[in-house]
Amino acid sequence: MEIKKVGVLGAGTMGAGIAQVSIEAGYSVVLVDVVPEIVEGAINRLDKAWAKAVEKGKVTEEAVADYKAKLIKSTDIHDLNDVDIVIEAVVENIDIKKKVQKQLGELCKTDTILATNTSALSITEIAAATNRPERVVGMHFFNPVPVMKLVEVIPGVVTTDDVTQAVIELAKKIGKEPVLAKESPGFIVNRILVPYMNEAANVFYEGIATAEEIDKAMKLGAGMPMGPLALADMVGIDVVLAVCDFFFKEFADSKYRPSLAFRQKVRAGHLGKKTGRGFYDYSN
Ligand code: NAI
Repeated sequence: MEIKKVGVLGAGTMGAGIAQVSIEAGYSVVLVDVVPEIVEGAINRLDKAWAKAVEKGKVTEEAVADYKAKLIKSTDIHDLNDVDIVIEAVVENIDIKKKVQKQLGELCKTDTILATNTSALSITEIAAATNRPERVVGMHFFNPVPVMKLVEVIPGVVTTDDVTQAVIELAKKIGKEPVLAKESPGFIVNRILVPYMNEAANVFYEGIATAEEIDKAMKLGAGMPMGPLALADMVGIDVVLAVCDFFFKEFADSKYRPSLAFRQKVRAGHLGKKTGRGFYDYSN
């Protein structure tokens, strides 16, 4: 099946980025969020990104005018009724995702693909809430979307091959590198990355080294571009802890036990960069 028109539900950090790269690849995009200010904020971000690209000579003014003409913004989910695929990027909450995906199933064309950008939730569980579980698939972008090359593609238990293939092709057309993963908590990247940050937090909690020493060691000794604790601060320690808790529950394996350092920091409200303090102090 050919995808021409892309719907994006949720215009936050990820949704705005997904809309941007889809438009730049030539697709018409309908961008929907329940909060009008969020839609406006996303449009402003896109306008700024494109103005900068014109300034740098990366794209022409005519091309940007064409991008803008191809973007429809809305606060009404029903405006997604004629798109070929919806990439859902609403908040990471299983009940909300099931609710919006069920709604999408009821209002979209019968062959519309329903993709979800969930970071770790079960595609199969989300799919089962809809009238078309065979057309629901995971399409996991990384932040910031215009920069990060990877898209994890995750079929659920009953997703058909043509749907998986269509999403792989779409990812390629928007300049990304798709990697196929079977459904499992955290897929590939978060399954490996989150326990890595968790172990760094354990090393910190046991007083084996300071945050600076741990990050320096992993950068200089393991070639990491960024230390694991600085990374946890950037992602948000509350977000990392929520994923650790999810892995611990899903796998029922002590190797995923969340670090007490994460718990302590979250209890103190030290969530990382966004609150000005985490493993590091960002107050000035
Ligand atoms: P965000 O909080 O920036 O955006 C979520 C948006 O969903 C908000 O603007 C909210 O108004 C909207 N929303 C909530 N309920 C809605 C509804 N019923 N209908 C329409 N819009 C609704 O969140 P973010 O970071 O963009 O995350 C979105 C999804 O992407 C989550 O599933 C998250 O796990 C995933 N993700 C996030 C990454 C990140 O680094 N932030 C990376 C990869 C995936």
